[in-house]
Amino acid sequence: MAILVTGGAGYIGSHTVLTLLERGDDVVVIDNLSNSSQKSLDRVAELTGKKPVVYIDNILNRDALKTIFSSHNITDVIHFAGLKSVSESIKEPLAYYENNVTGTQVLLNEMLASGVKHFIFSSSATVYGNPEKIPLSEQSRTGDCTNPYGTSKLMVEKILADFSRAQPQFRITCLRYFNPVGAHPSGRIGEDPGGIPNNLVPYISQVAIGKLGSVSVYGNDYPTPDGTGVRDYIHVMDLATGHLAALDSVDKGAAYKIINLGTGIGYSVINLIEAFEKASQKKISYTIVGRRPGDIAECWSDPSLARKELGWVATHSLDEMMRDTWNWQKNNPDGYKV
Ligand code: NAD
Ligand code: UD1
Repeated sequence: MAILVTGGAGYIGSHTVLTLLERGDDVVVIDNLSNSSQKSLDRVAELTGKKPVVYIDNILNRDALKTIFSSHNITDVIHFAGLKSVSESIKEPLAYYENNVTGTQVLLNEMLASGVKHFIFSSSATVYGNPEKIPLSEQSRTGDCTNPYGTSKLMVEKILADFSRAQPQFRITCLRYFNPVGAHPSGRIGEDPGGIPNNLVPYISQVAIGKLGSVSVYGNDYPTPDGTGVRDYIHVMDLATGHLAALDSVDKGAAYKIINLGTGIGYSVINLIEAFEKASQKKISYTIVGRRPGDIAECWSDPSLARKELGWVATHSLDEMMRDTWNWQKNNPDGYKV
């Protein structure tokens, strides 16, 4: 029995593969390394003393999937593979729909052909668009995504809902992640964005290490306590255990489930900068600039369904998120490129 992890060399995938191997699961990975390095999986093997079986291939390649499903006794699929840059998705929408939407359809077809019925999908809080009301529960309105990346996630959720009605033997869980940050406490695996990071925490950590000069804070005139944007940051190790909990609960409850993975706590950009300064003992220079188009003022989760359905809660504090991000950044200033 093995678990297929698509995109397993990536940021969230590598932490989840590690957590699966640590508890004794057999893991098969497919990743085309379009946004990752195989070094992440080498380090997972070094940390766990166990190796996943790795296929360097594209999920759009039906033959590769057929080989995997016929060569291993796969019982469950955790589907991380996809493209995730909001700005890139605006420039290259077709690549985003092909990888994220068509890629998922190809995968589901091959699962259907092979009789594999358990599917966990990486969705995102981005599907909520501009929230009418917070905290965001799974019942909150979705849509109004301002970019093809967000739309691709919502499209896959809708495809999965239709597919589940047509194939009720399938057990499908969509996990809507809030803002993943942090790294494994060893500092050996973590987030390795190519080029200049778009997301706040990788940006702050590159300022702390001296690779970038100053954080641009996108707006201090939002209707939030200090005027800067508020988000629900969640430690990547909490996300990893969330996936294990989803696997363990796959046969319980409805055949198609949508569940938030967040902490339920919102922190502002300034809160993050201050917490990072404390963790790194470095001064983080920042400048207030205009709002980033497409940004929302605030967003955090109602995490109660995850507790009820999966028996899962996030346990890491903001200080732990910043400590582990800094530990990864300072030990790997150039990510996996060493
Ligand atoms: P990541 O880019 O680090 O990992 C994705 C992995 O998928 C990469 O290793 C990449 O090489 C691989 N991949 C991409 N397209 C592929 C394809 N066609 N075939 C095979 N492999 C392919 O991203 P991540 O942060 O680990 O995110 C994992 C998933 O979670 C993604 O689907 C992402 O959209 C979703 N998600 C991420 C965030 C976030 O902020 N990190 C938030 C919400 C949802
Ligand atoms: C962004 C994406 C979202 C995606 C998520 C994944 C946009 C508009 N949204 O969300 O679709 O699911 O990443 O992680 O890109 N900030 C700064 N300076 C920076 C970077 C960010 O002030 O250099 C602020 C932002 O305005 C926001 C907060 O920091 O208030 C978090 O930003 P970010 O890490 O990019 O995440 P999201 O905007 O929540």
